[in-house]
Amino acid sequence: MTVTRTEHRPLLPLAPVVREGNRHGSRSYLTCLFKCGNACDHEVPNPNDGETIRDVIQSAVGRRAVLRGSALGTGALVVGASGLMAGAAPAAAAPAAGAPGPTTLANARFRSVAPNRRDAVVLPDQFDHDVIIRWGDPVLPGAPDFDVRNLTVAAVKKQFGYNNDYVGVVPIGKDRAVMVVNHEYDDIGLMYPQGHYSQRDLARLGMYTHGISVVTIKRGKVPGSWRRVKDLTKAPKNRRITVETRFKMTGPAAGSDWLKTSDDPTGSVVKGTLNNCAGGTTPWGTVLSGEENFNQYFNTEGTVPTGPTFGGAKDSYARYGIRSNSSDPRNWHDVDDRFDLEKEPNEPHRFGWIVEVDPLRPKSQPRKHTMLGRFKHEGANVVIADNGRAVVYSGDDERGDYIYKFVSEERYDPRKTARARNHNKRLLEAGTLYVAKFTGDGLEDGVSDGTGKWIKLCSDRESFVPGMTVEEVLTFTRLAADKVGPTQMDRPEDVEVNLVNGKVYAALTNNSQRGSTFPADEANPVTSCGTRTSPGAPLEMKSGNRNGYVLEMTPDDGDHTRSTFTWDLFLICGDPESPETYFAGFDKSKVSRISCPDNLAWDSSGNLWISTDGAAAGLGHNDGLFRVPTSGPERGRVQQFLTVPKGAECCGPLVTDDDRSLFFAPQHPGEIDGATFAEPASTWPHTDDFPRPSVCVAFRKA
Ligand code: FEO
Ligand code: CA
Ligand code: CA
Repeated sequence: MTVTRTEHRPLLPLAPVVREGNRHGSRSYLTCLFKCGNACDHEVPNPNDGETIRDVIQSAVGRRAVLRGSALGTGALVVGASGLMAGAAPAAAAPAAGAPGPTTLANARFRSVAPNRRDAVVLPDQFDHDVIIRWGDPVLPGAPDFDVRNLTVAAVKKQFGYNNDYVGVVPIGKDRAVMVVNHEYDDIGLMYPQGHYSQRDLARLGMYTHGISVVTIKRGKVPGSWRRVKDLTKAPKNRRITVETRFKMTGPAAGSDWLKTSDDPTGSVVKGTLNNCAGGTTPWGTVLSGEENFNQYFNTEGTVPTGPTFGGAKDSYARYGIRSNSSDPRNWHDVDDRFDLEKEPNEPHRFGWIVEVDPLRPKSQPRKHTMLGRFKHEGANVVIADNGRAVVYSGDDERGDYIYKFVSEERYDPRKTARARNHNKRLLEAGTLYVAKFTGDGLEDGVSDGTGKWIKLCSDRESFVPGMTVEEVLTFTRLAADKVGPTQMDRPEDVEVNLVNGKVYAALTNNSQRGSTFPADEANPVTSCGTRTSPGAPLEMKSGNRNGYVLEMTPDDGDHTRSTFTWDLFLICGDPESPETYFAGFDKSKVSRISCPDNLAWDSSGNLWISTDGAAAGLGHNDGLFRVPTSGPERGRVQQFLTVPKGAECCGPLVTDDDRSLFFAPQHPGEIDGATFAEPASTWPHTDDFPRPSVCVAFRKA
C-alpha cells in the first residue's frame, strides 16, 4: 500500500488528559465534547423503562439465514443514494450502462489496507487521491486567503466551513458538478491559536464555520479525479449556507405555536441550520441534510426551563438532551439571545429537522421539512417505490433511539421538466411518518433475524398517537414514538437502500450500555465484545456493543411503502478474531477489522461502502472506509479500502455512478486527547502546521 501525501512524523507525544467524564474506551475527549456535547456522559435520553431481560443473548455467530421475501429491486429507481453524476442513467436494478470493468471501484481486486495510526490517507497501491477543498478555502468571490490568525465573520462566511461531513454531488454538465458539503461542528481547541481570540469572537466565528457549502467542481486530468473550480467568477452556483440563512418551514408543523419566537412570530421561517451530519441526494437533484446534535447549542445563565410534556411523558428538553451547561464551551447564548433558553424557549424546536437545499438554484430558499419529524437526524435517504411514492429512511443517532420511515402522499414525476422537478421538490411536505419495531425469531437458528413492522405515527392530516396532535407528533417525535413501542436501537446512523437488491441497510454504530441500561434483544444482541487499544494490542473483552452492526431490512414484496419487512444483522462488526463478530457468514479469517459503522454508500454493482467513526475507541486504529459485497460468494467479505488520518473519522462517502470516483471527507483530523492548535496530533493535509478537515476524491492511478 502507499501513503499518498507527505506524512509528518513524529507528532506530539500525547500527554494524558485529566478531565472529568468517562470516555467510553479511548475516544477523544475533544470529539465527545464538541461533536455531541458529551452525550454519553449524560443520562440516557431514552432509558429503557421496561422489564429487564435477564437472559443475556449472546451474539449470533454462524451461518446467515437465507433471506426471505421475493426478489427485489426491479422497480426501485433512485439516483440519490448512489450519486447523480453527469451522463449517468439513474442507477436501478442492473449495473450502470457499460458494465464496470476490472479496474473500477466496484470490482477492483486490492489488498486490504492494514489497521494503522498514521497521519495520512492510506489507499491500496493502485489508487491515488486528491484533496478537493480544505477548511478555509474560498467558496464565494471576495473570500480572503485563509489566515487562521486573522479570521473575521465576514471572511468565514465566504470560506469553506469546518468539519466536513456529508458529500452530495449533482452534475451541472458533462465535466462539471456541484458538491454539497455539510459542516457538522467546530472544535475551538484545535481550530485556533490559544488565547488569540476572545470567547465572544470564538462564539461568533464558530456559528459561521457551521452550515453547508456548495462548491463547483470539474473533472481532473486523471480519469476519476475531480478538482474545485478556483476561478470563482466561473462558479456562480457556489454558496455558503450559514447560521443566518433563512429556511422556510414546510409541512404540517410549519406555523405551529411550538416554532414561534420573537424573531419569527409566524413560526415558519428559521435562521440557520446546525450540526448537519449526514444527508442524501434526491432523485430530483436536491440535497437533504440532517440536523443532528442540535441540543448542544442552547443554554441560559439561569435555570434551564423544562420543555413541553405530553400525557405524562418525559420533559421534552430532557428527551432531546437539552440540559444545563449543554452549550459549554461554545456559549453562543452569550452573544445571541436566540440561543438563550429562558429568552427563547421555542428556538430549540426549530432545529432537529431534515433540511433540503437545491444546489442548482443558488438563490433558492432552503427548507426544513417538518413532515419527516424532529429528532437527532443522522441523515435521510430517498427511494422511489414501485408505486411512485417517495420513501425516506432516517435514523435517530442516540443510544436507545429509533429508525424512521416516511412515505409521501404524492407520487414522483420522472419527467425531466421544470414542472416535474418543482412537483418533486414538494414530495416531502405531505405523507405518513412511521417508526420501526423489530421482532426476533429466536437464536436457535444461529442468526439474528426476524420480522419487522413500521408503526404509524401520523400523516399530514391525522395523528395516530393518543394525546398528541399532528404538530406535536412532528415537533416532539421522540416523545410520540415512545408511546407506540418501537425498538430501541444502538445509535442508528445512515439508513440507505441498495438499488441492486432493493434491501435497506442501517448502520448501528455502537452502544456501550447494551446489556446494562438497554437489555439485549435479537436485533441488538451484543453485550460483550472484543476491543483493542492499538492495532497490535491483545484482544480484550469489554461490556456492551462497542463496534456496531449493519442491519439489513427486506421490505415485504419488495415494496418500500409496505408496513412489514424481514431483517437480519448483515454484519456484527469488530475484530474477526473476537467470537461475537459475524460477517454475513463469510470466512472470518479473510475479512478486515471494522468498528463503528457510520455512513453508507453503494457502487453500481451493489457493493456496500461503509465509513467508520470510532475505530480508535473500539479497536485502537484509525477510521476508514470498507467495501463489502452484499450478494454472491463474497457476500460479507469486508475489505478495508482506505484509512483516514489520525484522529479523523471518515465522512462522505460517495461512489459515482461510473464507479471511477470515490468522494470521502476526513473530518476532525487530529482530534485526540491532549492535542491543541499549538501541539497538534495531526497536520493533515500537511499544508499547514495544524490540521484542516478536507474533502477528497480517490481514483485509480493513471
Ligand atoms: Fe454526526 Fe451520527 O454522526
Ligand atoms: Ca434468528
Ligand atoms: Ca455521522
